[in-house]
Amino acid sequence: MPKVLVLANQKGGVMKSTLSVNLAVGFALRGYRTLLIDCDPQANSTYSLGVEADQDQCLEAFVHQSDLRTPPILSSEPVDGITVDVIPAWISMGLIERWPDVKSAPDPKIVASRIRKAMGNVYDWVIVDGPPHLGYWNQVALEVGDKVLIPVPQAGNYPLIGLLQMRSTIESVQARSNARLRLLGVVSTLVDSRTSMGRTARERLELFVRDPDLIFDTQIPRATSVEWSQAHEGSNLFIAAPREAVTVAIVKLMEEVEARWQRNG
Ligand SMILES: Nc1ncnc2c1ncn2[C@@H]1O[C@H](COP(=O)(O)OP(=O)(O)OP(=O)(O)O)[C@@H](O)[C@H]1O
Ligand SMILES: [Mg+2]
Repeated sequence: MPKVLVLANQKGGVMKSTLSVNLAVGFALRGYRTLLIDCDPQANSTYSLGVEADQDQCLEAFVHQSDLRTPPILSSEPVDGITVDVIPAWISMGLIERWPDVKSAPDPKIVASRIRKAMGNVYDWVIVDGPPHLGYWNQVALEVGDKVLIPVPQAGNYPLIGLLQMRSTIESVQARSNARLRLLGVVSTLVDSRTSMGRTARERLELFVRDPDLIFDTQIPRATSVEWSQAHEGSNLFIAAPREAVTVAIVKLMEEVEARWQRNG
């Protein structure tokens, strides 16, 4: 069975897409069969993976199929000859969230179960990039997932307030409709260890996350190389900055994700 990891946080700009793309590419480079599902109408991961999506080849087209039979699975630009499969997003996907259109959208639970059926046992890892809100596409992401990783940036306490809401959303989806769903953990992102806020990021996170075991040891540093790596379609940190500290941290995060997954069963 694939391991389906959702990057979720209704707070925007916390590194969901950057981590989704680079974890997916990182797992693929390790030889794992990897799929990325882009559940964000901003389509940032779709762009970074260099996928030729359009309105007919994206998640939205799939949810408009009357029988929800075939999600489009496209291929990323290769990195060292390795590709990631992608169910892409497209900007018009956001319209489904619009009132009253959302009332006629198919049940996210059914959408997710059809996606899981189409995934079958083909993949080792499935990475789901969530949107910065708690609407329809976030629900699809949480219904399709097994475990959730919440990135929380070093940026005062605003992201910590959002974290509380995200945890209660995960608990309610788990209780109501997806019993598999668990919080794998919380990862500190955009950390600048030259500042006192950066050096105390973990302690401040512990005040909000009652169980400190949920906090990943790995912290993802703030780095200008992330911006370069996103300056071209089809680019990522493994292409643009393979030896930078931020890429090394993402590889460490990948290893911690695997180890925690094995421990948590
Ligand atoms: N480690 C980093 N250092 C510096 N800048 C970063 C880093 N990670 C991401 N960024 C930048 O921060 C912005 C937000 O990152 P990203 O798009 O990955 O977040 P997100 O949570 O997916 O955002 P959204 O909620 O809008 O989907 C991007 O412009 C990206 O280039
Ligand atoms: Mg994003």
